[in-house]
Amino acid sequence: MKIIEVKNYQEMSLAAAQYIINMLKNTPKLTLGLATGGTPQGVYQHLIEDYKKNGTSYAQVTSFNLDEYIGLSKDDPNSYYRYMYENLFKHINISLQQTNIPSGINANLQTECDEYENKILQHGGIDLQLLGIGSNGHIGFNEPGTSFQSRTHVVDLTQSTREANARYFTSIEEVPTQAITMGIHSIFNSKEILLLASGKAKQDAMVKLLNGDVTESFPASILKQHPNATIIADEEALLGV
Ligand code: GLP
Repeated sequence: MKIIEVKNYQEMSLAAAQYIINMLKNTPKLTLGLATGGTPQGVYQHLIEDYKKNGTSYAQVTSFNLDEYIGLSKDDPNSYYRYMYENLFKHINISLQQTNIPSGINANLQTECDEYENKILQHGGIDLQLLGIGSNGHIGFNEPGTSFQSRTHVVDLTQSTREANARYFTSIEEVPTQAITMGIHSIFNSKEILLLASGKAKQDAMVKLLNGDVTESFPASILKQHPNATIIADEEALLGV
């Protein structure tokens, strides 16, 4: 795993955006795996600025998002569909038909999972997967203990993940208890992976990731076995490593 250390959140965001923009220049038909949460927001802002300034095109890009809350519709202000629309898609030249996010309101969630996984495979897989990391090492919504062989599936969210994400909701009770997420195997299958980490809240996770063993009790640890994974992390996140 390659590690790029940067000064702060702004530098991390800029470096990651530049990484994506460079790939887009070489491969306009890129398949991007996208993430939500606070971490990639700055990256999306830079992609939007670059699109406005330099016109980098997304006309041929296909995107697959990692996850979605179960029970939240596309219109819900806290759905990841809405997040992606507001934070990126509505600002660039990507048609929504090119974007894929699991549906958290399909009456048959197993079918939703299987179809999502198949769609990624039929598309030829993900070229570049952007990832954040949960403080317990989760990637997507794959909580500790998830099999490294897992494909897109339904998960019960841990209390700590619900608490960490409660800041976007009016109360913890409103945070869904389940989500649909690409599995660890689905993520690992990506040709290239870019994991971002910023700030004190990610210190423990970075220590466990970089100094610990590869174990299902720390989902992100599998990335150490990926042939083409890069971490862009800031000084604060790497303190203690
Ligand atoms: C959420 C998301 C993850 C994200 C993680 C960290 O649970 N499902 O994809 O990486 O939290 O979030 P943040 O970037 O806000 O710290």
